[in-house]
Amino acid sequence: MKEVTASAPGKLMLFGEHSVVYGFPSIVTAVDQRLRVRVSNTREAAFSVHAPDVGVDNYKKSISELGSEKIPKGVAFLEMLYKRFIEQSKIKTGIQVETSSDFSSEFGFGSSSAVTVAFAKALTEFHEVPVSNEELFRLCYQAVLDVQGVGSGFDLAAAIWGGTIYYVKPARIVELLSANELPVVVGYTGIKANTVPLVRMVEEKKNTDPTKINQIFEQVTTIVELAKTAILAADWQKVGILMSENQLLLQELGVSSTELNTLIDSAKAAGAFGAKLSGAGGGDCMIAVTDIEHRDAVEEHIEHAHGKVLNVQTSAQGVRVE
Ligand code: PMV
Repeated sequence: MKEVTASAPGKLMLFGEHSVVYGFPSIVTAVDQRLRVRVSNTREAAFSVHAPDVGVDNYKKSISELGSEKIPKGVAFLEMLYKRFIEQSKIKTGIQVETSSDFSSEFGFGSSSAVTVAFAKALTEFHEVPVSNEELFRLCYQAVLDVQGVGSGFDLAAAIWGGTIYYVKPARIVELLSANELPVVVGYTGIKANTVPLVRMVEEKKNTDPTKINQIFEQVTTIVELAKTAILAADWQKVGILMSENQLLLQELGVSSTELNTLIDSAKAAGAFGAKLSGAGGGDCMIAVTDIEHRDAVEEHIEHAHGKVLNVQTSAQGVRVE
């Protein structure tokens, strides 16, 4: 039996969420929590998926019906990607897909984007179709837009290129800022964020009051540019201060939450250089920048404020064949 396995990392947004959707720059880091996808051949002209981590048990669909009817959430990105792949490559064979994850899809580490990228890589390797990172991005981005209609693709870029990157959609700029571990602590609120409604909410606000929202996005962009310079210079105090400034703007945008604010305040009270939410807001994770002297206190304060400290390494390697 022929088979190929590929893995891709999760991500954490460091700067520029929401404004990135409108073409402004952002900074994202890949995290060492990986998603693995194994692709193998099957005699049937069917697309089969086994993804126990997201509750998908031996899902099967004939190739001719891909994309039709209701698709379970855990399969949607894979199925739309396979549909796109068939359209473009004209390779119509059946395939068996199996996924496994180092992390819970609850954390907001981007399990959907990581699984899409790992699958695209495994699939193209399996069929010996050489693809550049840019081609891989285009294939995955189409599938993501097919499924959820919105998104900047920052999470796909992190999964493909890895490291800590400066990103402008749709992978128009991908610039590596650091391949080293960043001095951050990550706290999980225990609440699953719902990205698409939050993106839609910001869109509505932008339609209602474009001047105000554009002003916020421009201020965020100034912060992103300063953060880029600070990361390149490894000036972590500055990076932390900029995170706190970005957080204030996200609060103004209305996407933070009491739980996120509590964890952010507790990290800062424990001596972190600065902190902010990471991602769409409403829940998922916050991120704090700290020096080594304050690290334990920052972690303890986050736990004390009912957050869960997640042990992740940043600037992880991008997609790879295992
Ligand atoms: O909720 P997450 O971690 O997928 O982050 C969403 C970030 C947004 O900028 C709000 C949306 C996007 O696609 O960039």
